[in-house]
Formats: sequence, C-alpha cells, structure tokens
Amino acid sequence: MATNRVEIFDTTLRDGEQVPGCKLNTKNKLIIAERLDQLGVDVIEAGFPISSPGDFNSVVEVAKLVKNARVCGLSRAVEKDIKIAAEALQHAKKARIHTGIGTSDSHIKYKFNATRELVLERAVRAVSYAKTFVEDVEFYAEDAGRTDNAFLAQVCEAVVAAGATVLNIPDTTGYCLPEEYGAKIKYLKENVKGIHKATLSCHCHNDLGLATANAIAGVANGARQIECTINGIGERAGNTSLEEVVMIMKQHPTLNLSTGINTPMLYETSQMVSELMGMVVQPNKAIVGANAFAHSSGIHQDGVIKNRETYEIIDPADVGVTASAIVLTARSGRAALAYRAKNIGYELNKLELDKVYEEFLRFADQNKEVQDEDLPNIIKASNL
Ligand code: KIV
Ligand code: ZN
Repeated sequence: MATNRVEIFDTTLRDGEQVPGCKLNTKNKLIIAERLDQLGVDVIEAGFPISSPGDFNSVVEVAKLVKNARVCGLSRAVEKDIKIAAEALQHAKKARIHTGIGTSDSHIKYKFNATRELVLERAVRAVSYAKTFVEDVEFYAEDAGRTDNAFLAQVCEAVVAAGATVLNIPDTTGYCLPEEYGAKIKYLKENVKGIHKATLSCHCHNDLGLATANAIAGVANGARQIECTINGIGERAGNTSLEEVVMIMKQHPTLNLSTGINTPMLYETSQMVSELMGMVVQPNKAIVGANAFAHSSGIHQDGVIKNRETYEIIDPADVGVTASAIVLTARSGRAALAYRAKNIGYELNKLELDKVYEEFLRFADQNKEVQDEDLPNIIKASNL
C-alpha cells in the first residue's frame, strides 16, 4: 500500500534561531539552508524578514540559493510584514508566505485587546493580501492549542476560502496532550468546509516534553505537514525535533506515513547545526545524542554484542552514525571487555578474561570510563 507523504517544514532558521545565543549571520544561515535542501526537507522557513535588515537579507540569499525546497518567510497579519516578506522571497524558485494571528481568547484579549470577530477579519485580510504576491500562503493560528475548536474551525474555514493553502495549528505554549492535539486536527478535518483544499500542519512546542508526541498525533489524525527543527531547538523548551518525527515515521510502518528525508544525513546535520549555533546536543538526545547508540551496562552490552537488535531499534547507519558504541565502565561485563580487547588485537581465553576482568574492575572503579589505550596496561597488570 502506498504510504501517505508527510511534508517536513524546517524552521531551524526561524523558530530555532529565536533561541537566545543562537543567532546566525547570513553566511551560516546559507550553510544550514544548503544542507537542509540536501537533506530533503520540503519547506525551509528562512526567517522573519521584517524583524531586522540582517534577517531580510538572509531570507533573500536563502531564497536565491535553495534549489529544491520551498522557501518560506514569516509575517504577522500586518500588511507591511507581508509586503516585506514577499519582497525577500522574490527570487525563490518556490515561495511561501507564512502569515497569521493569535486566535486563543487569551491572545485576543491580552495581546490584541480585540474580539474574535476582529481577529477573524484580520486573518482573512492578511491571507487575501499575501495571495496578491504568491500562490502558496500558509496561515498560522497562533496558540491554536488553547483555542476553542469551534472558533478555530471558523477561522480556518474563512482563510481557506481566502486562498490559504496550508493551515498551521500551533501548540504555541506546548500545553496540549497528544490525544487532545490529535483530536483537534481530527475536528478540523471533519468540520472545516473546503479543508480538502488545504494541508493541515502541526507546529508543536516542547514545554511539557510533548512536542514530538503531539506532532505524531497530528499526522496520525490527518495532518500532512510537520514543522520542526534540527535537534529540536526553538523558543523556551524547543520545537518538535526533525530527526525524531522522521525516524518515528520510518521505524513504524503501521503508521503508513513517510517523508522525503535522506536519513543517513541526520547525524552530520545535527552536528553542523549544533556547531554553528553554539548549542550542544544533550548526550541522551534521541537519534542524534552522543549516547543514542552507546551501551554501557553489562547486560545490554552482552545482548548487543550477540545481536544488535536486542537493545537497538534503529540501525545507526540509517541516521549516519558509524557504529554502536560499547562503552567500558565499572558496570560493564566480561563480554564487553573481551569484545573491546579483541578489537585492539587481544584474544583472551576464559581464564585470561577472568583475570583481566578483575584488574579491569579495579581500574574502572577509579575512572569514569576505560579507554582502548588503557587496556594494554590493564592486561599487562593481570599477570597472565
Ligand atoms: O509557535 C508559534 O505559534 C509560532 C508561529 C509564529 C507559527 O512559531
Ligand atoms: Zn513556534
């Protein structure tokens, strides 16, 4: 059966770059944009052109550079923003304007001091205006996660009638539970007239650690685009992590969903973004963290040495990691020690291994990790 294609909308250069200390200059934005294009993302959100002359220039240059992906620029539901975004995108082979407004009662009351009716009107005006520049207009209903579903459906219906091609349903504050977010997408699919003319998009934040789960709940309920960032970077606790959602869809055929991502490029891309943004990847980060394929307890090491699949659900090569790592610590067992010793040329029989293991534990208790270069001395000290 053919799988349903989910588009990957990368916002590393926009939502990701909003993180304090992660600001990128144009040169570095171009390096990342080129890599994202090679990685196979469908959309690159290059920036927020009205926000600064530097960001405007970055969007112009990214638009000129990118060969395959659609290039997108963010704007508020404000004419000047939209006009500047259109100007920045004019050299893109495929351009998208991303415009929108807060739709939750809290945003309407405190941010805009307005009413639902006024917000609805502004949303439609923004989409209609953006359509005068480009065919592809994505509308975001900011704080959709906390927006009343009936009102959200009303806004979506109106902007689709005005020509919106994509409906972004952001859980801006990362508040939703997966079932709740999935149900929201389902509700929109079932209650928005003309929904077949637009793609529903998931844009989830990670304040409760649910950004990935929510995005997957969204596509499982009919959304066909996920907005995400490399390494999950983004405002506050971050955005949905690109590598996580892509690998979830790849590893779970029962979801019947696929992407165009060239997954063996994931690890290198993660490293590149981490270096250019000066943002370390936490070692236990799923898919791309330094420990994602490292095994250090004796029981796990024994299993992995016998058969990798006992403790690994992803082949490291599938995400560009050269090999699983068997890390030697005081929690390691004989199987791991024999394996690592063999790798550097020492074949130990059972008796020898018992002796070396004793010496190894003495050494390992004093040191966090035992390296290959420590092994010859440990073996020598074992009086074989
Ligand atoms: O989180 C959010 O609501 C956003 C919008 C601007 C798309 O980033
Ligand atoms: Zn966001």
